[in-house]
Amino acid sequence: MESSISVTYIESTTMSQRKKTVIDILRDSDDFVSGEAISDVLGISRNAVHKHVKSLRKRGYRIVGVSRRGYRLEDEPERLSMAHVTQRTENTMFGHSFRYHDEIESTNLEAKTLAQKGAPEGTVVVAEAQTAGRGRLGRRWTSPAGKGLLFSVILRPSMPMSEAHLLTIVAATAAAEAIERQVPARIAIKWPNDLFIGDRKAGGILMEISGEQDEVDWVVLGIGLNVNTEFSELPVALRRTATSLRMAGGESVDRSEMLAGLLLSLQAHYTAALRGGFERALTAFRERDYLLARTISVETRQGAVVGAAAGIDDRGALLVELPHRRIRSFHSGDVTLRP
Ligand code: BTN
Repeated sequence: MESSISVTYIESTTMSQRKKTVIDILRDSDDFVSGEAISDVLGISRNAVHKHVKSLRKRGYRIVGVSRRGYRLEDEPERLSMAHVTQRTENTMFGHSFRYHDEIESTNLEAKTLAQKGAPEGTVVVAEAQTAGRGRLGRRWTSPAGKGLLFSVILRPSMPMSEAHLLTIVAATAAAEAIERQVPARIAIKWPNDLFIGDRKAGGILMEISGEQDEVDWVVLGIGLNVNTEFSELPVALRRTATSLRMAGGESVDRSEMLAGLLLSLQAHYTAALRGGFERALTAFRERDYLLARTISVETRQGAVVGAAAGIDDRGALLVELPHRRIRSFHSGDVTLRP
């Protein structure tokens, strides 16, 4: 039977041909290869060779350089097995069209461009590394090459724009369940969609939507998950607040299986929400509510509001109890814990 699965492998930058060739030359040799030899074979300057090596190192290739001897490839980043992912997701909603990038600016950005051009629901954009990964509230999402999961899916739900934001709750609960199936960790969700292990963030979701008021055109759901990232690989600024599945569980995690598990779980939760509404997702969220009953501060345009987190309402808004038992709801905002 003919398969209709499409996996497009996309090399990183315009220099990809040369980068690939530098790595090919290094792979072909067990010993050092001089910069001069590489530049002769490729017909590029020594400086260009040096730049390619630098870029490869940034993408997770361990290349030692010794003066007068040249470069030697010591280790390569582990790559996702798209063969495994496609086999596990065959005949499912997120199993028909994959765009796999070695390196990309942002999978969300690419998925949005594809969605605008009419790419079908279920298209998956996945990357080993992002040069400008985007987080919520204009923040950055950083992850060392080949260590995390960085992917975005295109959805085309038939629902009004006013309900679509609830899909982040669906995605967060789907992700939490998928992770727990593979890793011995309890996942809590910090409103609206941060994935927490203990008091540290392991993953986040960025949802972008387009449509008219009464009908969604497309949704891009981007998920970033720290999988095999080690403590030393976390940006210094995040070392007190972030974690990875490996750091939490003590063992390296099969990223391809994790990606497949996330996509399958996402399909189950998404189709359940389309058929039966958001009740199930809201209940699942409430069982994992990281903030519940804690004293929090919600950053709003008018300033910070401090109170006790009191769960979420049926529209997914965060409820905060203020003095005199007054409850206020928030549809967006940055939340921090108060001591
Ligand atoms: C957050 O916690 O602020 C959300 C982070 C979402 C990051 C993911 S990584 C894959 C996808 N592409 C992006 O540029 N961002 C999302």
